[in-house]
Amino acid sequence: MSVASNEPLIRTWNAQTDGLPLVVEARAARGVDALLEWIAARHDLVKDRLLAHGAILFRGFEVFDAPAFERVARAVAPVLQNEYLGTSPRNALTDYVFTASELPPFYPIPQHCEMSFTAHPPEKLFFCCLVEPAAGSGETPLADFRKVLRSLDPERVKRFEEKGLRIVRNYSGPDGGGRFDLWKLKRWDEMFLTTDRAAVEAKCRAEGFEPIWTASGGLRLVSTQPIVRRHPVTGEPAWHNHVTTFHTSQAEGEYRRIHALRPTLRHFALLQLARVLGRLQSRKPVDERAMECTWADGTEIPAADVEAVREAVWKHLVVVPWRRGDVVAIDNFAVSHGRLPYRGPRNIAVAWA
Ligand SMILES: [Fe+2]
Repeated sequence: MSVASNEPLIRTWNAQTDGLPLVVEARAARGVDALLEWIAARHDLVKDRLLAHGAILFRGFEVFDAPAFERVARAVAPVLQNEYLGTSPRNALTDYVFTASELPPFYPIPQHCEMSFTAHPPEKLFFCCLVEPAAGSGETPLADFRKVLRSLDPERVKRFEEKGLRIVRNYSGPDGGGRFDLWKLKRWDEMFLTTDRAAVEAKCRAEGFEPIWTASGGLRLVSTQPIVRRHPVTGEPAWHNHVTTFHTSQAEGEYRRIHALRPTLRHFALLQLARVLGRLQSRKPVDERAMECTWADGTEIPAADVEAVREAVWKHLVVVPWRRGDVVAIDNFAVSHGRLPYRGPRNIAVAWA
């Protein structure tokens, strides 16, 4: 089925199957209003294709600033959210649009479904490229987590479901928490937008996080989460957890593959650094690591299990270079996202619903 039949100005690719992402591209540069009209005229089709493909990339529509991006996101999902309980530092660009991550450019962000560890993860996620990164860097790869689940050994999935996950995140206090630590998460008052501990505790209860205040003024959050979630509309199951993102092996596991994909000296050096720092982290007690994911009983997940998941995720990785003005709409119950390292300017905005 062609999404853009009778539309000579717009072409689509990846459209014949469930290819990732479906791309809707202007044949010649067109303004954001043309995209808004296109979506408004095909709202059911866009909804349907987003369910099937898991992500749609809109390209060539001059979505060059945060307000324009917000309009496009609202054309697909009118009610946006702005409460963020994840680990990335973010800056607000509008009330509902944020920079995707202020984590250092060399830091790899593994594939994850946004806020999968919360009680109600977003259903849709949007990214927009405001400043294009240098070629061959800084992409936001996607992976179909429905296919990842299907490709994993069912015995392994069963083991994950039987054992369950326990997530620990240590946020530093309002004073920043002291010495430099590469793994250190942002401050808890940055995440909850308040220094009122009672308000933080109430929010934690609503999300199923156990809050533990540390002697240094930090906040430790302990939570469990499902392994698989079913799609709220289609009922399709998808791998839907943060194990490869929160596990201590994440930086080394990602950099080994990033170096294989892009064998540069810089990536080699960062791989060695990730190995050393990962080993140092894993010598600390589990609850004192910046973030960690264990079995629900607190015992360590065997490296082979985490590695098998990472392998399945990377096998399904789709890397599309950013172009300024691109907007990607993602079904957060079907498709994951991450970030490849970059250098130099890059600005990707995010919104969610
Ligand atoms: Fe994310």
